[in-house]
Amino acid sequence: MTILYFTSTGNCLQLAKKIGGIQLSIPQMIKENKYHFEDDAIGLIFPVYGFGLPKIVKRFLEKASFKAQYTFAVGTYGNTPGAVMFNLHKFAVKRGITFDYMNELLTVDNYLPVFDVNDQIARLPEKKTAENIEKIVSDIHNRKTNLPKASVSLKVLTAFIQSMSGVFSSGKAAQKFIVNEKCKHCGICTNVCPVSNINIADKVVFSDRCESCFGCVHHCPANAIHLRNEKSTARYRNAEVTLKEIQNANCQNGLAKRI
Ligand SMILES: Cc1cc2nc3c(=O)[nH]c(=O)nc-3n(C[C@H](O)[C@H](O)[C@H](O)COP(=O)(O)O)c2cc1C
Ligand code: SF4
Ligand code: SF4
Repeated sequence: MTILYFTSTGNCLQLAKKIGGIQLSIPQMIKENKYHFEDDAIGLIFPVYGFGLPKIVKRFLEKASFKAQYTFAVGTYGNTPGAVMFNLHKFAVKRGITFDYMNELLTVDNYLPVFDVNDQIARLPEKKTAENIEKIVSDIHNRKTNLPKASVSLKVLTAFIQSMSGVFSSGKAAQKFIVNEKCKHCGICTNVCPVSNINIADKVVFSDRCESCFGCVHHCPANAIHLRNEKSTARYRNAEVTLKEIQNANCQNGLAKRI
């Protein structure tokens, strides 16, 4: 089994590791120009962004082809996924990819403008994340099928949210982050960035390719990067995923294999 995943704070990688098989990071596949995959089973795991796919995942799927007896996709989300799986199904079919099993996993929401990290972690039992991970893993191992449905109102709401998120996803989001004097110039923010959007020569400088994943914000060991409108100063990394794994998944500057 091959799993293609994108992760910023580890929720998607946690699920990918639980399912097993070979886990391949989408940012690394894009960097290596690898878009064709063959295996008995192939899966896609991604975080829901603005009721839709992260831009990097969409760019990958626009070129990807899968040859497998069983294909699946799971979106992890923290609050409301909208009609993301329904829309992904439609988009994938147009691209010649037919998913047999699609599902969503409710877990910690890492979207700092709206959610407090400690509150999100405390709510994990209520979200039944551990139980739902077990169910999704069992479904996939038993080659279950499941296709998404969405009501008309959910599709309309999703289209509205997506049109709004288009306005804010210009790639310049990180340029509004504040990097304070606690910065130790350690370079970890550059290593966790999936699109090589950060340069730390004299000071931390953000370019205009930002995916708004907040990886640099959550993983900075000095807690030196802040959003103007963040709901918590606490930061998040999934408890079952290490910083090294995140760096290996996302690092674009050639350091990943040495970390
Ligand atoms: C830019 C951004 C947008 C997000 N949009 C949504 C959303 O529309 N709905 C939702 O439920 N969660 C949303 N989230 C939360 C993530 O989908 C969720 O925390 C996910 O599990 C993170 O996965 P990761 O830890 O693998 O990066 C968003 C997070 C970010 C950073
Ligand atoms: S990760 Fe934090 S401390 Fe390290 S260079 Fe980036 S901003 Fe500075
Ligand atoms: S600059 Fe930060 S928020 Fe933007 S893509 Fe890179 S790691 Fe993610």
